[in-house]
Amino acid sequence: MTNDLFNVKDKVVVITGGMGQLGRQFSSALLESGAKVAVFDLNTHKDPMQEQFGECIGPENLSFFPVDVTKKETIIDALKRVEDSWGIPHALINNAALDFPPGAPVNENGPFESYPESSWDKIMEVNVKGVFLCCQVLGGRMAEAGRGSIINICSIYGLVSPDQRLYEYRRINEQPFYKPAAYSVSKSALLNLTRYLSTYWASKNVRVNTLTFGGVYNHQDSKFLEGYCNRVPLRRMADESEYNGAVIFLISDASSYMTGSNMIIDGGWTAL
Ligand SMILES: NC(=O)c1ccc[n+]([C@@H]2O[C@H](COP(=O)([O-])OP(=O)(O)OC[C@H]3O[C@@H](n4cnc5c(N)ncnc54)[C@H](O)[C@@H]3O)[C@@H](O)[C@H]2O)c1
Repeated sequence: MTNDLFNVKDKVVVITGGMGQLGRQFSSALLESGAKVAVFDLNTHKDPMQEQFGECIGPENLSFFPVDVTKKETIIDALKRVEDSWGIPHALINNAALDFPPGAPVNENGPFESYPESSWDKIMEVNVKGVFLCCQVLGGRMAEAGRGSIINICSIYGLVSPDQRLYEYRRINEQPFYKPAAYSVSKSALLNLTRYLSTYWASKNVRVNTLTFGGVYNHQDSKFLEGYCNRVPLRRMADESEYNGAVIFLISDASSYMTGSNMIIDGGWTAL
């Protein structure tokens, strides 16, 4: 009974940015649950992915497509190829994004007053326009098919301001380092794109939800880790596999009455 409720077997799922840290986790969890996974990414070298999944997953359920989410023609082309093999996708995870982690170069993380216009444009292009285009192309086809689930990946920094005190340790040697506004603004934009599309496509049975994540452990600097973990109620960063359950829930029928929502998984960060 429970297995049926969360069943994603044979669902065709497109994951943008599927070669990244979380994208691989989602792919892996979905493949293990019997879904067919199409990875849309700039970088589609298969080797690391094959290494991760080993021999247990048949290649017939996993495909890679070179896609730049800011280029509509690459999305259309990849979708056509997915449809030729597997039919119209059941789910789209808009996961590709640009971010600048705590160890990123200072020039991309300077003060707001001098934050480069070109960096702002680059982040908006991928994190907002990229999601818009993927929703337009893939969501449009799902609406025609009369079913679908779209998951837009957001961040706590799209809900609340980054805590700039966590980056104080980088503001040494007169190097100003701040978490930039662009990332926060780009992720906030997805919250209302989600709400907009959830009502727009409600009659077509395409559900659209946001998943908001807290920070994921990825060998960050010990000073950053100390500050972050002290700030978050669960006292640790997320493990990279801890968001897989929510993804499966949102794709499966277990979430059939859920649309236009934002599910927050952040160890309690935004509860404070
Ligand atoms: N890792 C975290 O701590 C964290 C926290 C909160 C939210 N998130 C969100 O989760 C998602 C995944 O994060 P991640 O840490 O796995 O990121 P990542 O940097 O490891 O992976 C991002 C992937 O997106 C791809 N990509 C970038 N630009 C693209 C483009 N134009 N077209 C196609 N693909 C493109 C990259 O090649 C990469 O494979 C992002 O939306 C991120 O904002 C991450």
